[in-house]
Amino acid sequence: MTVQLRVYVPPHPLIKHWLAVARDAATPSVLFRSAITELGRWLTYEAAREWLPTIETTVQSPLESCPAIFINPEVPVAVVPILRAGLGLLEGAQTLLPLASIYHLGLVRDEETLEAKCYLNKLPETFDPQTRVLITDPMLATGGSIMRAMAELTQRGVDPALTRIVSVVAAPPALQKLSAAYPGLIIYTATIDETVNDRGFIVPGLGDAGDRIFGT
Ligand code: PRP
Repeated sequence: MTVQLRVYVPPHPLIKHWLAVARDAATPSVLFRSAITELGRWLTYEAAREWLPTIETTVQSPLESCPAIFINPEVPVAVVPILRAGLGLLEGAQTLLPLASIYHLGLVRDEETLEAKCYLNKLPETFDPQTRVLITDPMLATGGSIMRAMAELTQRGVDPALTRIVSVVAAPPALQKLSAAYPGLIIYTATIDETVNDRGFIVPGLGDAGDRIFGT
């Protein structure tokens, strides 16, 4: 059986709505930030399905004992926001994953070469191989940043099959690179856009997510 990269675009009206708000060039920063927070929340909700570890047990209801399923607190869960723009998705993700450890990774693209440079790395030296990792980055464009993030994670013991990427707009170049390198990986995104222009912007996209979140 060949394992293939899976990219889910959940057909949910709230995800479509907040994507439309984020795409609109007339949306001011404060509302853009809310839209990205909401997308972080709903896409994380979708990504958590079949990813969050659970344990089966029983609980005593006021009437009788019955089967119950809890989130397993012994399996580590980590969220890795790719700075800066990934911070916008973190707030929504964190409300659903309150026990997750947050490891910041600061990457910025060189405006000329589009190569991703790392300026902050708060990853631990090694991860427990069972760790569920959720990476947040609203834009997967040329794929340089997400490939760099995946390399940093896998060399520290992260299993790509236990990793989920939450994005907002994903473009073919990034998806092709991820597919070739990490066939077991699963991505949740609000949309797959057609192209990346020669300045590295996703088209139609939503502009520069980091600048719009932080009003710079
Ligand atoms: C943007 C975006 C992604 C990256 C995607 O970040 O937030 O991290 O570009 O592009 P790629 O797939 O071609 O690597 P940017 O470098 O603009 O930094 P910022 O988030 O601090 O604005």
